[in-house]
Formats: sequence, structure tokens, C-alpha cells
Amino acid sequence: MQKIIILDFGSQTTQLIGRRVRELDTFCEILPYNKYPEDDSDVIGVILSGSPFSVHDPEAFKVDLSRFVGRLPVLGICYGAQFISHTLGGKVEKADSREYGRANLQTVDTTDPLFRGFDQNSQVWMSHGDTITAIPDGFHVIASTKDVTNAAFTASPKNGNPSGGGEPGSSPSGRLGGASIWAVQFHPEVYHTLQGKTLLKNFVVDICGSRQEWSAASFVDTTVAELKAQLGDDRVILGLSGGVDSSVAAVLLNRAIGDRLTCIFVDHGMLRKNEFQQVMDDYRCLGLNVVGVDASQKFFSDLAGVTDPEQKRKIIGRDFVEVFNEQAKQLINSTSDETIENSQLSNGKFKWLAQGTIYPDRIESLNITGKVIKSHHNVGGLPKEMNLQLCEPLKWLFKDEVRRVGRQLDMPEHLITRHPFPGPGLAVRILGDITPEKVRILQDADDIYIRGLREYVCDDGETLYNKVWQAGAILLSTVRSVGVMGDERTYEHPVALRAVTSTDAMTADWAHLPYDFMAKVSNEIINKVRGVNRVCYDISSKPPATIEWE
Ligand code: XMP
Repeated sequence: MQKIIILDFGSQTTQLIGRRVRELDTFCEILPYNKYPEDDSDVIGVILSGSPFSVHDPEAFKVDLSRFVGRLPVLGICYGAQFISHTLGGKVEKADSREYGRANLQTVDTTDPLFRGFDQNSQVWMSHGDTITAIPDGFHVIASTKDVTNAAFTASPKNGNPSGGGEPGSSPSGRLGGASIWAVQFHPEVYHTLQGKTLLKNFVVDICGSRQEWSAASFVDTTVAELKAQLGDDRVILGLSGGVDSSVAAVLLNRAIGDRLTCIFVDHGMLRKNEFQQVMDDYRCLGLNVVGVDASQKFFSDLAGVTDPEQKRKIIGRDFVEVFNEQAKQLINSTSDETIENSQLSNGKFKWLAQGTIYPDRIESLNITGKVIKSHHNVGGLPKEMNLQLCEPLKWLFKDEVRRVGRQLDMPEHLITRHPFPGPGLAVRILGDITPEKVRILQDADDIYIRGLREYVCDDGETLYNKVWQAGAILLSTVRSVGVMGDERTYEHPVALRAVTSTDAMTADWAHLPYDFMAKVSNEIINKVRGVNRVCYDISSKPPATIEWE
């Protein structure tokens, strides 16, 4: 399949470049700057990302441009542009002041294929400390802002090939008939570059020649066919969380192998109000074969008296693995050779463990030392003797693509638009130790809040629930404050409400919820939820705060 390679030099917006390329129905892979693939026969273009470094830093990340320049179209963004300039004979110098924020393209060459369709004065977003003061020989400037003369420059085939490699016309797929380099000092991937999508489309589709074959429909067709071939008659176990990723993975697998998929859904007692039953009902309506396990007693007793957030997470993680493994073992034993013989089951044994892992979970993100700080996670503690292989049908998808695939599979909208929810559930939203009574209080408050978000329709017809990335209530069970209800003095707990906007949960802003909504929810919670006499709203962004309180 055709793909674009995005080489990551450590910028915070690298994933965003990837998502933008996928929005153009084109497959792409984000790789650390030093992991350009040996075999690039299906690569149609290369994008170099931004970086926290200056090209002059001794530790700056470097790539050997001759691996692809001259054979494939290349687009350098910010640091990528500076690196191209610096490496090919231009000049990069420290800017007098950091150029950050909006700027306008005072001149833009709309005859250049990268800027086709651009408006004069188009707004772009700058974020750089160095500036390109001279471009390499063979390049020419195609856009400038008031402060940045070399805002975009290119070496197209007609101007000769600066790398010296490859012949014009040697590009396997470029419609331009030859390899070329483009470099932009601004960030086309961010929302504030108003025609950024046009620029990326010009590069990916017109210049690189993408056939735009990557769509939810094609993903479903090819993945179902691949799963059928990979799994044969084998059976598969999948852990469901109620969230969108594992649910979509389940429906996709169900399409491929029908009831040879068995899902396990563990209730640790800290899900939202009535969530276990609702999710079980949803899954059954989808035709999934689900084993629901109520293990809440075990979790509550192991968590009793524990207040340290990390300790809580560890206990929940350990208990979860124990409960899941116990169920998985029972399933595996039920299809042992002997059982199959006795019951004359013709369908095979459990040989696979499926997970709803998505692409951002697997992208190897770089830290400032260039070391990979997150690599492929794996199944926590699944015993070796179970002998299960890992199956991750969504491993190439971003979250928005998972949702599109869910719609393609005709899944109900409320399952697809469900907010992310932490694995340890309400346990990390109760400060202090956990008791069933505290969970009950938080479930009631959270339920009023989330129902309110779902019911509140904004002027544009969208619900508040769909406008925010994630929302939830937090019980400050270690805090008590005085209140008055009727004639009685109360001394009870506050509940904090949190709602954030985000694109990937790496950074988040607090959501500016309407006052009338907050007033109504606060009233309802204090009036209806016994144990709560005060409601606060969390107005912290991430960073420095996190989305969850623990
Ligand atoms: P933070 O609190 O780190 O959360 O800003 C980022 C995102 O991750 C979710 N989250 C978790 N998800 N297990 C999970 O499956 C966890 O232990 C966990 N902790 C946080 C959080 O809800 C948010 O979407």
C-alpha cells in the first residue's frame, strides 16, 4: 500500500502531521528520525517534522538525506526545513526573538504545486527560535511573511536536483515526474495555519501521487480478509473495557470470525452508574459473545484502606490481570483437545488474545535525548503457559479513524462517541481510600453531570458531551466543608467537576462550559446526592495539571 513516511525529530505536533495525512485518505507511518526503513518500495513521499532542537545544537537529531532525497518528494516542516537548508548549504541563524504565533504570507507563489489554491496573505502559524537566513543553491523562495523572507522554498526538478541523486522523472509515483524538496518554516499541520490542509493535500496527493485509498471502508474490507486468513479456525479472546477502541476491535473481529470470538468484560466495581449492565446489553445487541464477570467484591476488599494513588493503580492492575486470566484459562480449558473430542466441536482452540491497541499507543515517541521513551506496550502478565498470540486489528489507527471504522461497522453512535475513561475507573477519581459508599456517591454525582452534558444542546446543534474530549466528577473524600440544607448544618464532601478539550489527551484545556449549565448541574447534585454539599469546577490545563486527579 502506498505510504508517506513522517520522520519524527521530537516535535509535539508530529502526530498531528500523521493525522492530517490520514485525513487525506493516505496511509502514513511516523518513525523516529533515525529509523527510515531499509525497504521503501511502497513509500511515495517523506515529511520531516519539527524539533525542540536547533540545527546547531551538538545533540541535534540528524538524518542522512541521501536515503530518499533525489528519489522521493520531501517536505521539511520547521526544524525539517532548517535541517534541509543547513545540510544542503544554506544558512540557519538564531532569530533576534523567537517567532511564535500567527503570521501572514505576504508573498506566495501560487504557481508552485505546493501552494496551488492559496490566497495571498494566507494565515500561517510560526513557532521557531532559529531562522533561515540563506537558502541553498538551486532552491528558490516561494513564500515570505513580513518577518520571515524564507518562509517557504523549494528545489523542483526544473531547477536541478540539489542532492545530486536520481534523475528527474525517476520518482516512482510523483506526478511531477521527478523528486523535489519543499521546505516550510511554518506549521501546516496546526489548525491556526488556515490553508494548512490545502498545502498538505497539494504535497500528498498532487506531488506524491497518493491514490487516496485509505478509508474506513477499505480498512474494514482488508482487515476482515486479513483476520480471516490469519486466524483460520482458531478462537480468540478479547478483553472489553466498554470504551470505543476495544468495542470496535470486537465488532471487527466478530465480522471476521463470528462466534469464535469470546469477549471478557470485568466489572471492578468502579465503573460509572449502571455502566456494566448497559454495556453488556449493548454488546449483546451487537451480536457479541460476552462473558461478564462481576469481581467488584475482590477489588473493594483488596483496596480497603489504601490511599496512595500509585498503590491503588497497582492493586487494580494486578487484580484485573488475575480475574481476566482466570476467565481466560477457563475458556481455554473448555476447548482443550479432550473437550473438543467429547463435544465434537469442530471450531478450533483459543490461540489468540486480541486487544484494542491503537496507533498512538505504539508510536515510539522520542524524548530530548533521542531515546525512545514509549515503545510497543505488551500484555501485562499474561501467563506464558496460555500460549496465546497477540492480535491487534486497530494497531494502525488514530482515535478519529477508530470512530470512523465504528460507523462503517454500523455501531451505535453512543458507543462510538463515548469519552475515554481510565482503566482504574472511579478509583482514580476518589481522593483517599475507596469504599462502596464513596463509589455510590461519586456514581450519582457523575451520572447527573454526564447526563446533563448529553442533554445540553448548543446553538450549533451539537451536545456539550460531544464538544468535550472527556468529562467526569471527582469526589474529594478527604475534604469536608460546612453547608446548610433546610434548617440543618451539613459537614460533607465537595465534588469537583472536570471537562477538557483535547485532540489526543497529551495536552488538554479546561472546557469553558456555559454558566447556566453549571448552575443547573451544581444544584441538582447538591440537592439529590446525599454526602455532597459543594460543587467546584476544575479550571486547570494539562500541562501542568493532568486530566485525572490521581
Ligand atoms: P492524564 O491523567 O495522564 O490522562 O492526563 C490522560 C488520559 O489517559 C487516561 N488515563 C488512563 N487510562 N488507565 C487507562 O486506561 C489509566 O491508568 C489511566 N490514567 C489516565 C485519562 O482518563 C485520560 O484520557
